[in-house]
Amino acid sequence: MKIISNIDEMRLYAARLVKRGHSIGFVPTMGALHAGHISLVDAAAAADAKVIVSVFVNQVQFAPNEDFNAYPRPIKKDIKLLRSTKKVDCLFTPEAAEMYPEGYASHVALENSMTACLCGVTRPAHFKGVTTVIAKFLNIVNPDRIYLGQKDAQQAMIIIKMMRDLNYRTQAVICPIVREKDGLALSSRNAYLTPEQRNSAPVIFKSLQMVESMVELGERNAETIKKEIRRKIKEENLEIDYVEAVSAADLKPAEQLSGKVLIAAAVFVGKTRLIDNIIIDIP
Ligand code: PAJ
Repeated sequence: MKIISNIDEMRLYAARLVKRGHSIGFVPTMGALHAGHISLVDAAAAADAKVIVSVFVNQVQFAPNEDFNAYPRPIKKDIKLLRSTKKVDCLFTPEAAEMYPEGYASHVALENSMTACLCGVTRPAHFKGVTTVIAKFLNIVNPDRIYLGQKDAQQAMIIIKMMRDLNYRTQAVICPIVREKDGLALSSRNAYLTPEQRNSAPVIFKSLQMVESMVELGERNAETIKKEIRRKIKEENLEIDYVEAVSAADLKPAEQLSGKVLIAAAVFVGKTRLIDNIIIDIP
């Protein structure tokens, strides 16, 4: 596994792969890698000849009050884990000073309702930071496919829309959420949890799973369903950022559940904000 930090070197390396006729699968991450990230690497290795992973804690997607400084950066461990998969050809670890040099002023922002709902309510500038860094990565790596996790469903949909709007050639592959045995979605932020918080966190997924049985019993009213999810989460004394039911196609609010519906939640477990979601398909 080659490790590249310089942008021009990365661009050259990727261009050479394309010239030799290799397809490139790209997995962007912020590091503190876990089995969720590795599932994206596995998917990339299964479909593409060459796999490039990036590790970059992208400061422009964090608000000043968020956890940019505290965000875990176990780069040695990440390198070891990526090497152990034997599936990664190149790790790209750009420097913040080269990605956003002094005077940096350009941003890519999706401007429609998709960025204003769900996580966009309490993190208004977040997705602009995400689409900006992804656009930069696409320009540097020019991959055939980008691998994204369903864990961040809204992020994946926003990136796909941005890529389509801006005519990137890259195709997106969305991979299922990898979970702990007790259902908690793997997240780099789970490392912040105390043992007690770790014990209460699985209620997030359990409350979402409950929707499946409610739907099976005939419930279709989104408000009733959201109320029930909130009630269940509050049993663990957790603070809710949001619980929403939206169309899985465009993130528009669903009042009655029909078709593919994304049920998504963001919950504070102590100071740690965790997100999770499920998609329910109602014929
Ligand atoms: P990060 O949180 O490191 O996640 C990198 C990728 O891994 C994202 O596509 C995310 O959805 C996926 N992922 C995280 N946890 C997962 C899980 N439990 N199961 C499956 N996939 C999972 O998301 C980001 O970084 C950043 O916003 C980034 C896209 C890299 C831009 O900076």
